[in-house]
Amino acid sequence: MTATKGLEGIVATTSSISSIIDGVLTYRGINIDDLAENASFEEVAYLLWYGKLPNQSELNELLQQFGAYSALPAGVLDSLKIYPKGTNSMAALRTAVSSLALFDEQANDMSKEANIKKAIKIQAQIPTLIAAFARIREGKEPVAPKKGVSIAYNFLYMLNGTEPDQVAVKALDQALVLHADHELNASTFAARVTVATLSDIYSGITSAIGALKGPLHGGANEAVMVMLEEIGSFANVESYINDKLANKEKIMGFGHRVYKNGDPRAKHLQKMSRELGKLTGSMELYEMSVKIEELVTGQKGLKPNVDFYSASVYTTLGIPRDLFTPIFAISRASGWTAHILEQYENNRLIRPRAEYTGPVDQTVTPITQR
Ligand code: ACO
Repeated sequence: MTATKGLEGIVATTSSISSIIDGVLTYRGINIDDLAENASFEEVAYLLWYGKLPNQSELNELLQQFGAYSALPAGVLDSLKIYPKGTNSMAALRTAVSSLALFDEQANDMSKEANIKKAIKIQAQIPTLIAAFARIREGKEPVAPKKGVSIAYNFLYMLNGTEPDQVAVKALDQALVLHADHELNASTFAARVTVATLSDIYSGITSAIGALKGPLHGGANEAVMVMLEEIGSFANVESYINDKLANKEKIMGFGHRVYKNGDPRAKHLQKMSRELGKLTGSMELYEMSVKIEELVTGQKGLKPNVDFYSASVYTTLGIPRDLFTPIFAISRASGWTAHILEQYENNRLIRPRAEYTGPVDQTVTPITQR
């Protein structure tokens, strides 16, 4: 038995949800470029769950369900108030999503109907959780979700307590479309491993959030912003990046396990970053990002991934840096739940092997002699 480090190149399951073939990403066979331009996040979530785009009445029904489920159980909302000051936002989300199960009578109902209902419920409640957490830690009252509006609109509304700007809603909605699913990425794999034991959907999503938190995965979007803040201004970009590369340090938001010729999602976020910069009259983050790309691609041949331009986009939208990865979770909840439903449909326990590299033929030395 020989291990493949990081399971690189290992095909671990079949899936009909999303594919990456020759650098092209599709959801249910539809190119991500087409979806980014022509579909809303709610349409994409429906597509991931049901395998086809919704017609108008199906979309209305989904929006109605989101509206019905988006408020949090009082127990969960109250528990957010006792999280210690300075709690990491992804740790808060992980704990809060796990606690949602405690207030859902159907948490352990494994019927197909109950699981799809829970998928929709989790999708509806994650944005409310994040917005409530963000307000409570600032000593503000949480804002109750609106009914009949998009997830992007509702999240910005609940976060800021004011009607969001249409440009901001459109930009966030497109970012949610771009992050919704991504084949067997680390967090989706974590979700599938968990539910393949026939554990419940909340356990699967809790595992996924834990995996997304890390800076080699979803946590990279926040790490990109940390880097942009450290750099401080356009004039410092070149020396900062050159030093990092000379020290063989990783530049966050670059590189990808699967895409070697560029992440197809990055160009949409770059365009959004440029347009938002122009609209707000503040181009520096965009220009710094372009310069970083020029240097990293020029010297290392590494291209930006989905996280790189997300940082300047979310900052321009006025979103605090530590909510970038939770926003990724809002979007990816659709993909995670779709994968969990697919895993249940055709389940087998996921239990690979390890190549043993430890000592052999050891014996127990009596404790007095150790
Ligand atoms: N900056 C500088 N060098 C890099 C980077 C980077 N961002 N990414 C990879 N490299 C280098 C590595 O140092 C390594 O060089 P070496 O062979 O000289 O040691 C080589 O490229 C291969 O890198 P690995 O880390 O082995 O590639 P792997 O496929 O395991 O990792 C990963 C992919 C984790 C995305 C990596 O590119 C990385 O750490 N990027 C930065 C973090 C990041 O942006 N993560 C988000 C990914 S997208 C997502 O999850 C949403």
